[in-house]
Amino acid sequence: MPFAVRMKKQPIVAPKGTFDILPQDFPYWDRLEEAIKKVAASYGFKRIETPIIEHTDLFVRGVGNFTDIVGKEMYSFKTKGDDELSLRPEGTAPVIRAYIQNGMDNMPRPVKLFYVGPMFRHENPQAGRFREFHQFGIEAIGSSNPVLDAQAIKMFFSLMEELKLKNKFFVKVNSIGDRTCRPKYISALKSYYKSQQGKLCPDCRKKIATNPLRIFDCKNEKCTRVSLQAPNILDYLCDECNAHFKQVLDYLDELGVTYLLDTKLARGLDYYTKTVFEFYPEANSAEGGKTNALGGGGRYDYLVELLGGKPVPALGMAIGLERIIGLMKQEKVKLAMPKEERVFLIQLGDMARKKSLGIFEELRKNKIMVEEAFSKDSIKAQLKTAAKNGANIALILGQKEAIDDNIIVRDMQSGIQETIPLHKLLGELKKRFKEQAA
Ligand code: HAM
Repeated sequence: MPFAVRMKKQPIVAPKGTFDILPQDFPYWDRLEEAIKKVAASYGFKRIETPIIEHTDLFVRGVGNFTDIVGKEMYSFKTKGDDELSLRPEGTAPVIRAYIQNGMDNMPRPVKLFYVGPMFRHENPQAGRFREFHQFGIEAIGSSNPVLDAQAIKMFFSLMEELKLKNKFFVKVNSIGDRTCRPKYISALKSYYKSQQGKLCPDCRKKIATNPLRIFDCKNEKCTRVSLQAPNILDYLCDECNAHFKQVLDYLDELGVTYLLDTKLARGLDYYTKTVFEFYPEANSAEGGKTNALGGGGRYDYLVELLGGKPVPALGMAIGLERIIGLMKQEKVKLAMPKEERVFLIQLGDMARKKSLGIFEELRKNKIMVEEAFSKDSIKAQLKTAAKNGANIALILGQKEAIDDNIIVRDMQSGIQETIPLHKLLGELKKRFKEQAA
């Protein structure tokens, strides 16, 4: 078969690791976005959106060249104008770029920003892991106060409460130190892993020199066993990092947050300093850490400076929306009820259809939710659609009504209908909605 003919017949599917969000899924996405906006606003965060494409260098510098995200998973390309761009794999570096570029460092601190949008990572797709996924993220820039670390963690729990998820959640926390204490820890870690390198996988062996903290993330059983005996970061923290971490834990106690101290938690991005954390559902914790994190974050006190801004400490976190939607579906959470007042406009014949277009626009402008099936001709088919869509009221415009400037208003439940002059339609509908609401 010629190639062109064969190609025509093959349906094109979405790229691996990507998916469509279908109309039946949108109630979940809408509910989640509504909860996100409410919780973010209640903690004083303002929305920001950055471009989906950024200069590749932003992530090389910000997230780190030796991380999996930048080293292996970025969708990078050269444009016709020779720019090296990448689809954003995460939101923190772009938000900090925007903060610097837009002079937000003159705003009262901390500058609190949140975002919701798609991210792209060329990972191996599996349950809960996609190549295009969505994150809700927050970034609080310009404060080193540990109360912010605790509040960012608390926000995750507040969002879960707002969604009325019954599952219990917990957060893993750790501190990975700062410029003062981390170098000493890293060199102790290097010495330890060097002494054990025969037991490590080839990938981890390479990481000893470049980024030994990343060895903690390796899922290889042998590497995990070696990591168990590795030096403990908490023994190396300087006084400032130690005091900061203690305060964070104090605040978490105060806020009643369930946390688990995990001294092997390092996170997969290089910009972190001091506090790091990841969120998990309790129900699956018995699987022994195989569960995907629902979200994660931490402090990144040097990133603003690293990206060319005035040095200020900062902190943030991001939550994977697909993973939350998965839980919402599992738990069948209550979604927002569809609007009670549902009107369906039925037309019969050419003249009525033409006139219906104007009526539809008039109702829509007056904020009345009206549905139609202009492409259908028979009254039976249109009434069937109206019933299927859960309409309370059907408006019927036949040839006769169109000529007489009238319209039939039918109560879908009782089947009772009356003919009224068209100019009284808006008033009649408003009256009926008021009666329904009472
Ligand atoms: P991250 O841990 O790489 O952190 O991603 C945060 C969350 O995004 C994950 O916990 C997970 O829920 C979701 N996620 C990540 N990759 C995938 C994937 N391939 N498929 C589905 N969901 C995924 C960050 O991105 C940091 N920017 C967070 C942050 C903000 N730190 C400070 N501020």
